[in-house]
Amino acid sequence: MRDLKGLILSGGKGTRLRPITHTSAKQLVPVANKPVLFYGIEAMAQAGIREVGIIIAPETGDEIQAAAGDGARFGLRLTYIVQDEPLGLAHAVLTAEEFLDDAPFVMYLGDNLLQGGIDDLVAAFRAGEPEALILLTPVLDPENYGVAELEDGKVVRLVEKPAAPKTNLALVGVYMFTPGIHAAARAIQPSGRGELEITDAIQHLVDGGRRVEPHVVRGWWKDTGRLDDILEANRLVLETIVTRVDGELVDSQIDGRVIVEAGARLERSTVRGPAIIGAGARLIDCYVGPYTAIAENCVVQNAEVEHSILLAGSSVRELAGRMESSLLGRNVRIGRTDRQPRAYRFMVGDNSEIGIL
Ligand code: TTP
Repeated sequence: MRDLKGLILSGGKGTRLRPITHTSAKQLVPVANKPVLFYGIEAMAQAGIREVGIIIAPETGDEIQAAAGDGARFGLRLTYIVQDEPLGLAHAVLTAEEFLDDAPFVMYLGDNLLQGGIDDLVAAFRAGEPEALILLTPVLDPENYGVAELEDGKVVRLVEKPAAPKTNLALVGVYMFTPGIHAAARAIQPSGRGELEITDAIQHLVDGGRRVEPHVVRGWWKDTGRLDDILEANRLVLETIVTRVDGELVDSQIDGRVIVEAGARLERSTVRGPAIIGAGARLIDCYVGPYTAIAENCVVQNAEVEHSILLAGSSVRELAGRMESSLLGRNVRIGRTDRQPRAYRFMVGDNSEIGIL
């Protein structure tokens, strides 16, 4: 088999993650202080893939390019491919056709996280040499996913968000293809939501008698397209960290697995892991609880934060109640003053969500 290439889809609209996606790409939202996109790139490098194309949208492409660079630091080469409009996953494949040439490839959705990487899947693809190989995982709510029906160990039908699912096997956002997928993507029509669906392209392969193999993933898989999923991914990745304290602790305490990056400073504070405190962050008279990731240059003062993600440069000060299950964008300021009358004062962008619990 020819050398495998990689294709990471990092375009799209990200409507479910507004307002974060009004100003930034959702694939750059950090999970345990690392952009979710980087986990996919690293999985490709780990599987020995050296040529990776990244689909980007015109609005967020520059930011993604600035973050991931030419790929050298991941040990592979990144080529950026602009998709003018997010017209579907199969449309993204067609957009990348010139880059992919006639190589077999692994396609990875840039906002997905797969525990254990893609080594197993690449090995299964090389061994079986099917036309396509799809990843599946059992879920409790298959009606919210693309669902696969199997017969004799082969895929016979894929249905997008079925009202009455016949199996609980959901499609995971990682696929392996041979070049036959290009003709299939060209043969299909846009779906009801106006997108060229990858499930339709794969179904086209099945209908044409091509062999499409399933591969059930063993570890966890997360699509981080929504807030709760990002928090969950953050929790799962933080579970795997090992304590490392390179920052400064002044009259402070850490319990459990905690990373304190160089240049971070804790004063009279307690951090209960798993948690990560980014470079240059300052924690003063505060409590940071489990499953929290605080990015670089954040400030938490006289406050309690738990099960949350703070992006770079944000601050949380003088809160009476504990902040939890929250995602703060970059340079967000949350705080209070002693001024009377006591009131809430907000300056919040479109599609924000604030819960007073
Ligand atoms: P989705 O999360 O399905 O789509 P989206 O990014 O438009 O998000 P939302 O539904 O919240 O509006 O996309 C999965 C991944 O694929 C994600 O990383 C974006 C990327 N993508 C493309 O690169 N091009 C596309 O045409 C589409 C639809 C998605």
